[in-house]
Amino acid sequence: MREVIISLVQSINGAYAQDGWSTGVSTPTDFTYFVGLRRRAGAILIDRRTALNPQLPMINAPGKVLEHTPVYVLTESDAEVLSQQLAERGLDYRAVHFTPDTLPEVIAGLETTGDMLLCESGPNLAYRLLDHGPGVELHLSISPRYLKDAGTHFSALDADIPLRVRGVEQRDDQVIIRYVRA
Ligand SMILES: NC(=O)c1ccc[n+]([C@@H]2O[C@H](COP(=O)([O-])OP(=O)(O)OC[C@H]3O[C@@H](n4cnc5c(N)ncnc54)[C@H](OP(=O)(O)O)[C@@H]3O)[C@@H](O)[C@H]2O)c1
Repeated sequence: MREVIISLVQSINGAYAQDGWSTGVSTPTDFTYFVGLRRRAGAILIDRRTALNPQLPMINAPGKVLEHTPVYVLTESDAEVLSQQLAERGLDYRAVHFTPDTLPEVIAGLETTGDMLLCESGPNLAYRLLDHGPGVELHLSISPRYLKDAGTHFSALDADIPLRVRGVEQRDDQVIIRYVRA
């Protein structure tokens, strides 16, 4: 079965963003871990908000390490509208529609350059994938920080996902916990 790894970083009080950006929650150690996952990725999965954010660079831009890595924007909304929006912005990403029921076949059908798919989305899509996707493992990286500001983001997805811990790793002051659905 294909492996889907979700990469999420969080502060000790559960914040996914500082001033609206995940960068503030990350640390050099977390970033190194993330880059290690990216090196193994045969495809990248992102959400609509990440894909259309004009302040983010194109993940697979020509000349970049991931130039030949397919990037899929998974959406439960209108994928055709999203495709147009991606094309208008010159983004070489493919919009893919899914529902919780179709997620297994959608993931199985994606063209990749390797067996591992890396989800770099925000928590909303990430937890939908963890809830309904097959072979999904969450790598939750906890930064040694407490954060609260106007742009702090806490996941509000309505879900109840039973989990098991597959492994725990400490790197410097960063703790990475690997979860799968129970
Ligand atoms: N800590 C981390 O590791 C990490 C990683 C990435 C991002 N973040 C941060 O997380 C925060 C965002 O969290 P989130 O992605 O869970 O956000 P969210 O706004 O809670 O959820 C985004 C989802 O909402 C749906 N949606 C509905 N209307 C939308 C619209 N007009 N535009 C875009 N999406 C719409 C989309 O799903 P459908 O397309 O299926 O409708 C999309 O996937 C940001 O501050 C970001 O910087 C943190």
